[in-house]
Amino acid sequence: MTALPGALSRLMVKVVVRAVRYMPDKPPDPLRHKHDQMGRPLPRVDGTPKVKGEALFAAEYRLVGLCYASLVYSTIAKGTISRIDTAAAEAAAGVIAVVTHENAPAMEDPPVPPAYSSGADIKGTAASDLPVLSDEVRWNGQPVAVVVAETLEQAEHGASLVRVEYEAERPSVTFDAVKHQATAPVDVVGEEPRVEVGDAESALSTAEVVVDHVYQTPRHNHNALEPHATVAAWDENGCLTVYDSTQYVYGVKDTLAAVFSLAPEKVRVVSKYVGGSFGSKGNVWNNTILCAAAARVVGRPVHLALSRRGVFNVVGGRSMTEQRVAIGADRNGHITAIIHTGVNATTPHGPFAEPFGAPARHSYATRHLLVDQKIVHLDTVTNTAMRGPGPSVGSFALESAIDELAYELDLDPLELRRRNEPERDPSTRQRFSSRHLLEASRRGAERFGWDRRPPRSRRDGGWLVGQGVAAAQYHVVRFPATVRVRINADGTALVQTSAQDNGMGTATVQIQHAADRLGLPVEQVSFEYGDTNLPKAAAAGASNQTLALVHAVRDACEKLQRELLSHAGHGSGSPLAPHTRLDDVEARDGGLFRKNGERRGETYAAMLTRLGRDSIEAEVTSGLPYETMKYSMHSYGMQFCEVRVYEESGEVRVARWLGSFDCGRIMNAKTAASQFRGGIIMGIGAALTEETLFDERTGRIMNPSLPEYHVPVHLDVPPIEMIYTDIPDDHTAAGAHGIGEIGITGVSAAIANAVFNATGKRIRELPITLDKLL
Ligand code: MOS
Repeated sequence: MTALPGALSRLMVKVVVRAVRYMPDKPPDPLRHKHDQMGRPLPRVDGTPKVKGEALFAAEYRLVGLCYASLVYSTIAKGTISRIDTAAAEAAAGVIAVVTHENAPAMEDPPVPPAYSSGADIKGTAASDLPVLSDEVRWNGQPVAVVVAETLEQAEHGASLVRVEYEAERPSVTFDAVKHQATAPVDVVGEEPRVEVGDAESALSTAEVVVDHVYQTPRHNHNALEPHATVAAWDENGCLTVYDSTQYVYGVKDTLAAVFSLAPEKVRVVSKYVGGSFGSKGNVWNNTILCAAAARVVGRPVHLALSRRGVFNVVGGRSMTEQRVAIGADRNGHITAIIHTGVNATTPHGPFAEPFGAPARHSYATRHLLVDQKIVHLDTVTNTAMRGPGPSVGSFALESAIDELAYELDLDPLELRRRNEPERDPSTRQRFSSRHLLEASRRGAERFGWDRRPPRSRRDGGWLVGQGVAAAQYHVVRFPATVRVRINADGTALVQTSAQDNGMGTATVQIQHAADRLGLPVEQVSFEYGDTNLPKAAAAGASNQTLALVHAVRDACEKLQRELLSHAGHGSGSPLAPHTRLDDVEARDGGLFRKNGERRGETYAAMLTRLGRDSIEAEVTSGLPYETMKYSMHSYGMQFCEVRVYEESGEVRVARWLGSFDCGRIMNAKTAASQFRGGIIMGIGAALTEETLFDERTGRIMNPSLPEYHVPVHLDVPPIEMIYTDIPDDHTAAGAHGIGEIGITGVSAAIANAVFNATGKRIRELPITLDKLL
């Protein structure tokens, strides 16, 4: 879509979304019921190279002449640099250059993605449009200089010698001080900030039973196992090659091209293996740009790997939120009104509105619904997406409130949810594509033993034991992607796309999928990825990558198979002659064979030999996601847990977990389990320990390291059991849904609800630390 003036293009987007509702569905994908390779727990194809140390991560590319960079960070949150003294650093052993705003190469302001609703083309994916290396300081920890040296130690030592003087201004870093000045954002990740169905406030005022509370969630920081890292090199033709730890190689390419005013074809970005991202590598942050700038200054390849503290300084995390959830119901537990409003903190230079209102838009039948999201600005590093952006903290508020309502009504919380299961999406009136939440709930309850839950806490020595439940929901997203598939005369196949494997098992799953699609054993399929020299895949974000690639791989395989059949017609000598359509064949045994009991067919190898060709390939760009525009399409889950609270100290321990999911067709039982389990573990951290602490005088992050910013360790993680419906969605390729974010969703509410069940105390502010229970 071309960039149109805001209001006009917004209108066009709305017209398209409306028109799509009347479009006929595509026929369901036959592969959604095929159980050959897909769904099997195939071990990761990149497991062996990773274990052997052969898989190169961004920081491990040892280019000839490589030197090392270290960043100098601002010590104030707002103001101007009045003087920067680099002499001591420049004189230190091994230091090659000190790059500051005074000697940096020319850089355009980084391009941030336009508001989704504008319909404008994405030209770059920077997290912030603030100038990189300027004398203006806008957050504490902002990089103000880069020291490049022969070794990492020399660079770090050099960085410690740079002296910066500031004209400081008073920063605004306290959420509570500004939250009452909230304003409406342009959009909330593509949705209107405000939806109103009926008249929720007046329905609430006449409801027989009402719960109405405020919930708070803190700032969170990203702590992927692999901190952000880049190796950048310029060649003599002015071409830039970057090895970067990212969720979107083309986003890095487009951003760097814009910042350095290069034609995009002069930038190549490679990112094959990534040690976790969770939203932290979906945007381009200053470290990547500064690495390329430093390499240009020194005329050598530069390595810039952020320390853990560096990630806290340079890379934003999840915004803090304050949310009101009010629910009205009749005495029979039928909801009559839902209000979910609130505010989150962002910055003027990277306005990511945390979509915490998403669950309320889609979860419960109600005739009166009000969702209204606002933002305030703070002088901090800008916030960004973090696993389950929106629903993970939004469900803490909504699913806690649902539990509170269940207690008010003296009703089992699962029964309350059952009574309010919607037939259509409550905010859009769209039909659901595939929603089996109640089935997941029923199976989960049975497996967990929910019916035997004591109504109030059970005591075990000094421990109070309780159980809790919460629903999970995360929307299905599919971005367009381009995929190339080649079949070789030896019967092997190659699938190519630029997507990176951020740890979720992308290569493994796409090999399984392509093997089924083509009728080949997995050993004969390879997957080439993680490089902008390959066809453009979309960002790995919003749990979309697997589905996006499955969709595009399907289209490419079908195009290839159609072409092969076009060469198997009358007079071709093929057993498939004179005329066979794609619908008439199945892919199996290394070729295409007629269905309906007929055995005749031809292997790919025989076809290519007959055609005298070494290989044949097809490239397809999958189109717009009409299916997600037409239907209300989500992944679902019901999270069950048991917690133990030590009465004397308030210490909370999660003792047992069961996640029961409904996420369409599961593509690989092993990698899916890792996604679910990882999400649940991350949710346990959000519920009990994770919280970024700011010094409210200076805006400095006070706990920028894992000893102080607590994420769960093995001893904090209980046995986790996961089950899933595995019911395919008839409206997606292979019947799949995204599953990357659903695992974290609902987790903190399930824990808070279990803590209430154990102690009778309702904690409405995360994290649930012991001080809040005493
Ligand atoms: Mo995600 S939080 O869109 O990587």
